[in-house]
Amino acid sequence: MNISIASDHAGYEYKKAIIEWLKTEGYNVIDFGTNSQESCDYPDYAFPAAEAVANHSAGFGIIICGTGIGMCITANKVNGVRAANCMTPEMARLARFHNDANILTFGARLISLEQAKELVKVFLHTEFEGGRHTTRVEKIHLLTGC
Ligand code: RB5
Repeated sequence: MNISIASDHAGYEYKKAIIEWLKTEGYNVIDFGTNSQESCDYPDYAFPAAEAVANHSAGFGIIICGTGIGMCITANKVNGVRAANCMTPEMARLARFHNDANILTFGARLISLEQAKELVKVFLHTEFEGGRHTTRVEKIHLLTGC
């Protein structure tokens, strides 16, 4: 499966480590930058990474900044994206199970790299529950147009 990944300067080191780890797990990673710790603007990286998920070039996205918040706000502007900013494995599990989230965002300044890897693992391995949640998820797109 292709995974779309991006970060700003605050998430760059975590992005590098997570890319290497995902490759060892057999995933193909599409890296939308940034490529250094030089200060940059998170929407420039979140938007193309989110578009790759929306147009199905990637099955899921992982987008990292200092808090995950800016990345989440930006990604959710893309039609078809359901980005969830998570801090715990249970949030990551429920983001997939109930919300069918297709992008995980988190803050490299708020959790350890090991915690971040755990979020990614849980997110990528949890299936959407469907049922009543399908109606709710469909309503998001019907009511908001994105
Ligand atoms: C960068 O300093 C920081 O604002 C950014 O990484 C992110 O936390 C924004 O939401």
